[in-house]
Amino acid sequence: MNISKIIIHASTYGLFMPLIQSEHKTTASKIKRVTTGVPGLDELIAGGIPKGSTTLVSGPPGSGKSILCSQFLYKGVDEGDRCLFLTLDKKVEGLLTQMEELGINFQPAIDRGQIKFLFLNINKKLIYETMTNEILSGDYERIVLDSITPLSEMPIYIKNQEIANNINIIGPEEFTAGTNFPIRRLHLHYIMNALETSNCTSLVTSELLHGSSNLSRDGLSEFLADAVIFLNYDSTMDRRKLSIMKMRSTKHTLKPQDIEIGYGGIKII
Ligand SMILES: Nc1ncnc2c1ncn2[C@@H]1O[C@H](COP(=O)(O)OP(=O)(O)O)[C@@H](O)[C@H]1O
Ligand SMILES: [Mg+2]
Repeated sequence: MNISKIIIHASTYGLFMPLIQSEHKTTASKIKRVTTGVPGLDELIAGGIPKGSTTLVSGPPGSGKSILCSQFLYKGVDEGDRCLFLTLDKKVEGLLTQMEELGINFQPAIDRGQIKFLFLNINKKLIYETMTNEILSGDYERIVLDSITPLSEMPIYIKNQEIANNINIIGPEEFTAGTNFPIRRLHLHYIMNALETSNCTSLVTSELLHGSSNLSRDGLSEFLADAVIFLNYDSTMDRRKLSIMKMRSTKHTLKPQDIEIGYGGIKII
């Protein structure tokens, strides 16, 4: 009887073939990339931001963080992605008006339901629930959180010690000086975990004080994020800069790039 042969054949075709296919997939295009919408930036990061990653966009006020994030979602809209813009700094109307002045008009995409803008009020008790529910239920491909700073500074109270114990612990070598890390860590983990679970590609902004030596206001987000893009300006020289400080699975320059803000948003010059 040939039954054993048949079984071997079945497993050959049933198991072996898919293995070859997935192997082929990883060698052909190891990491999928997501375009940034910033002219000149994708070329510096091997074609785009790794799909599914979280990038911290940090810089002092006025350095172009919200503009860069808007360009990222505007590009997403253009590519047919479902997008979400979570804003804590500004009412949605003001943000849309600012972007329209730069030629970034989200209205048609809002009307089609392809992009959603959500203002998160820091004074509302349920801000975390609102935010994570939206992130996890929306099936979004691109998400912006602008900015993480008010969230990371918000006090929280933990009733259940068990929950606190289940949060992943980061080694002390990853900390910079500071006294209230456990609470901040909890905040940031909560947000980063939600973004990671959703499988979207996300940009999270962090407001920096001018001249700060950290890459985020909380001094911790840069360790949790997969990538860090740092925006800055030199007012005496009247120059703006963009630096890629970190990007997992990507060969990139560390050299600060000259940028310009004008119609269309930021571009590398
Ligand atoms: N239409 C424009 N043309 C040129 N520069 C602009 C324009 N609109 C805004 N900017 C510049 O962009 C800055 C605001 O960028 P924004 O992304 O809101 O900064 P951030 O979010 O980092 O605080 C302004 O301070 C201004 O310097
Ligand atoms: Mg902003």
